[in-house]
Amino acid sequence: MTHICRICGGAVQQFLDLGRQPLSKAFLKPAEAGRETSFDLTVGICASCTMVQQLGEVSRDLVFGPRYPYRSSGSPVMRKHFERLAQRFLNHELAGAGRFVVEIGSNDGIFLKTISEGAVAHLGVDPCPRAAEIAEDKGVEVLVDFFEEDTATQIRATHGPADVIYSANTLSHLPYLPSALRGVDALLSERGVFVVEDRYLGDIVAHTRFDQIYDEHFYLFTVRSVQAAAALHGFELVDAKRLPVHGGSIRYTLARPGVRPQNINVGEFLAQERAQGLGDPATMPAFAERVQRARDELRTLLRELHDSGKLVVGYGATSKSATVTTYCGIGPDLVPYVIDGSPVKHGRLTPGSHIPIRSPKAFSDPYPDYALLFAWDHADEIMAKEREFRKGGGRWILYVPEVRIV
Ligand code: SAM
Ligand code: TMP
Ligand code: ZN
Repeated sequence: MTHICRICGGAVQQFLDLGRQPLSKAFLKPAEAGRETSFDLTVGICASCTMVQQLGEVSRDLVFGPRYPYRSSGSPVMRKHFERLAQRFLNHELAGAGRFVVEIGSNDGIFLKTISEGAVAHLGVDPCPRAAEIAEDKGVEVLVDFFEEDTATQIRATHGPADVIYSANTLSHLPYLPSALRGVDALLSERGVFVVEDRYLGDIVAHTRFDQIYDEHFYLFTVRSVQAAAALHGFELVDAKRLPVHGGSIRYTLARPGVRPQNINVGEFLAQERAQGLGDPATMPAFAERVQRARDELRTLLRELHDSGKLVVGYGATSKSATVTTYCGIGPDLVPYVIDGSPVKHGRLTPGSHIPIRSPKAFSDPYPDYALLFAWDHADEIMAKEREFRKGGGRWILYVPEVRIV
């Protein structure tokens, strides 16, 4: 069956089937098990614009809105990341009278807090009322809504044009991205910049990080596909910069054509992506084969450890772990519980796989033989915190870029 590209209308070819999946952030109370929403997680690539995208769509009202639990400011690393960028905008793009910045996906105000302290006019847009309340307590103004064409047109009418539109880890979540891009066109000033940060498909493919694919991450961006989507909406990609966050991201800067010089690194990224075969439908099946191999090896390892009487527990009830546990068929029989530092998850079950979540206090009571590190993007921090585990003979199991014990 041919699927139509959400960006350009071209033909999308499926290359990966991760099976029936739960919503990645639906951490259940035990009584709720069995009453979950699920969907087919399949991924394809457009033969025309090269955008990698999911083939189905989960209703945004099920994922976002009042029940959305993620709060960006929980991470000290991300707080510093956004403070630094906001400060840079204050010193450059937003220096001068009458400047206005809009953030798409402002969450709990992690980025706009610094802008508000700098007394610059701003507006966050985010459909999660509770996150918006937290942002407002920090002095941040928020419109509780989904950013799309209509919302942007309204903001333009009430606030005037934006000098900067910024969005981190949100645009890839919007199946209706063309509407959001038309909105950016309506709202951005003539010389303004649209700056977008998101996970990078190049890192996902190079390191077989298939668990970065889950309900929210509808698109997986490359420099080439972002440039193509931008061009279709009258924007030029003028800069691309690698970021170390979220296991490998890129910050893209878009502007109206000819208004800003294009940084030489855009061409360098495109050449590198061509060399990697990124965006080439012919190379994606090889990625899918590596994903299947990782699944088979992880299952075999966990089964062998279980059969030899070893205790393996999970570490980090991440959104990513929904994909891994469900796709690999890992349940409480193989991994009886998952340790997680976030109190709101304690006493709940992981989505789909229904593994109980326990506090880090339970980790040493007693230490397991092995810990399967679902939060691999926080490996340094967690391994340092839990160094007694390894000293006592415990071992970590990692599954990206390949299955191994350390
Ligand atoms: N920007 C923050 C960061 O990088 O930490 C938050 C990212 S969080 C993964 C995605 C955010 O986008 C959520 O707060 C969600 O409520 C919001 N969101 C989802 N759809 C949106 C839309 N159409 N317009 C604005 N925000 C949206
Ligand atoms: P996420 O990758 O979906 O944001 O989830 C990260 C999870 O990892 C979150 O529930 C908290 C957990 N975590 C720990 O348990 N210990 C830690 O030291 C860190 C950094 C995260
Ligand atoms: Zn396309």
